[in-house]
Amino acid sequence: MLAAASKTRHEVAKVEELPSGSSKIIQAGRREIGVFNVNGTYRAVLNICPHELAPVCKGHVKGTNVPSQPGEYKWGLEGEVLQCPWHGWEFNLNDGKSLHEPHRCHLRTFETEVSEGMVYVLV
Ligand code: FES
Repeated sequence: MLAAASKTRHEVAKVEELPSGSSKIIQAGRREIGVFNVNGTYRAVLNICPHELAPVCKGHVKGTNVPSQPGEYKWGLEGEVLQCPWHGWEFNLNDGKSLHEPHRCHLRTFETEVSEGMVYVLV
């Protein structure tokens, strides 16, 4: 762990151990954080669902129906949506926001960093 601008850097995994579509849950001090490789970008969220505190990072990563014209069903955001394992709430891993109440409900997010082939989360 190295201190960087008042944040602590926590080691997650080697880049090759966390390919696109994969994830890993780490312990960072008192927090459990899920780190996801979302189409080549690392996203990190606290492993607590804002609904009833489930370990949200143990849910499925998937896509969802995106806005479309009446009578059309368009699938999108594949690999970018985390669905809570308890009651199915969906969160966009890119910003942590709930798909249904983005202004009221979100997962806590953390910065990530890649350095010398290693993925880190900054807390
Ligand atoms: S605890 Fe996550 S949806 Fe209910």
